Amino acid sequence: MIDLRSDTLTRPDEAMRQAIASAEVGDDVYGEDPTTNLLQEKIAAYFGKEASLFVPSGTMSNQLCLKVLTSPGDEIIADADAHIFYYETAAPAIISNVQIKTISSQFGFPDLNQIENAIRPNIYYFPKTSVICLENTHNRHGGTIAPIEYIQKLSDLANSYNIKLHLDGARIWNAIVETGIGGATYAKYFDTISVCLSKGLGAPIGSLIVSTAEYIEKARHWRKILGGGMRQVGILAAAGIYAFENNLKLLKADHENARLFASLISANEQINVDLSRIQTNIVRFELPSSVNPFDFIDKCKKNGLLLSHFDAQIIRAVFYLEITSEQARTAADIIQYVLQSP
Ligand SMILES: Cc1ncc(COP(=O)(O)O)c(C=O)c1O
Repeated sequence: MIDLRSDTLTRPDEAMRQAIASAEVGDDVYGEDPTTNLLQEKIAAYFGKEASLFVPSGTMSNQLCLKVLTSPGDEIIADADAHIFYYETAAPAIISNVQIKTISSQFGFPDLNQIENAIRPNIYYFPKTSVICLENTHNRHGGTIAPIEYIQKLSDLANSYNIKLHLDGARIWNAIVETGIGGATYAKYFDTISVCLSKGLGAPIGSLIVSTAEYIEKARHWRKILGGGMRQVGILAAAGIYAFENNLKLLKADHENARLFASLISANEQINVDLSRIQTNIVRFELPSSVNPFDFIDKCKKNGLLLSHFDAQIIRAVFYLEITSEQARTAADIIQYVLQSP
């Protein structure tokens, strides 16, 4: 079975399992887990920030960042398809008591004028706009990369209004390997950054918050409140170090496989795929209205290919560590076959 539903499906390989097995551990709630400390140091240094904090998931990571950047009753601005808004179960309302003002966009990066218009005037009957969130790469928009010039201007805008900037960088790694722009160059524009080890990098669990020492201390306190204080978590941090040191460079192959697959399926006139959107490891393609997307997914499954339904006629395929170029070709063949068969 070729499983293209998500890059979260990566499983630890033998070498990563060895790293897990031999990890030195201690109690991380006491700050005494050497492997976790090492991971946090490495990631903070890579992004050129003072500190970082290992947390169980990207959702907790994003939410802790919002918690430390906001006060109850604030408003934050995010793209309408941002993970923080779309998939995090209204956590900003529950944990930080903030509301989100969303802005729709074509590629996941709202127009700067629209963002500026969304910033609330400083009048007592409005909520305070305290944070703007950017997602890079953008999951629901198909792995699109925020242009660095856009990020620079967004940062200028946020600074001019004294608003904090948060980066949901679950897949910032994909942007880094694709553009060649370093982690620290991206990171310098943001107050807090969330990065995931458990997507394309292939670790089984884990995300990190990267920020100032002060924000990290606040986030550590809130991580404990949320039950995310972990003990001998070095066995997971070891997987994270392995992923960071060995798998980052491999992401480029996922992007190539995504482009290969997209170009092969785009030859089928029944499929609409916007090739300009295939910038990293995610491919979104559209079926004609005559094809029921759920039947299509079902038939693909019967023929050995797992895909996910995204929206209306749109299907999503994601490329990651375990998927080879041969499988990318076979996946495209299965789709052609399914669309031809009655
Ligand atoms: C862009 C983005 N942010 C955050 C998350 C949340 O990560 P987790 O599933 O580890 O909570 C995801 C998960 O897919 C994501 O795609």
